[in-house]
Amino acid sequence: MLRSKGLALLLGAALFVSGRVSAQQPPSIVPVDPPPGGSDAFGSDWPDGEGRMLTGAACITCHSLAIVKQQGLSRKRWDELLDWMVEEQGMPEYDENTRTVILDYLERHFGIESRVSKS
Ligand code: HEC
Repeated sequence: MLRSKGLALLLGAALFVSGRVSAQQPPSIVPVDPPPGGSDAFGSDWPDGEGRMLTGAACITCHSLAIVKQQGLSRKRWDELLDWMVEEQGMPEYDENTRTVILDYLERHFGIESRVSKS
């Protein structure tokens, strides 16, 4: 009597446990890592780093970032281009700090070296 009761308890426990395990892992909610860097509006080839969001947001308002990515300019040329974007295209004039972050980002990722190494 005691033995079979114990067995039933054990079986019940085993069922309970296995039921829980499979309930915890239905295939539909197995977490999948998002593709690295590729899950936002700027795309996976918009380089990571400081100023990424700021620059992407500032430039994507008017045009595709492809226009930006295909350029490889010196800091001075980027600076002039931002002036042109402000004066001729109506880009808002950013304060000194914001402008510096954007310029740093552009120079770091789309500087002259990036053009040399890409071609
Ligand atoms: C207010 C709108 C506006 C914003 C904001 C803007 N652009 Fe532009 N940009 C333009 C327009 C319009 C053109 C295309 C001008 C043309 O070729 O007629 C352009 C063209 C360009 C070009 C190509 C220039 C060439 O010689 O072909 C680059 C590079 C560029 N933008 C970079 C940027 C960057 C970097 C930012 C963000 C910091 C930015 N733009 C933000 C309006 C904007």
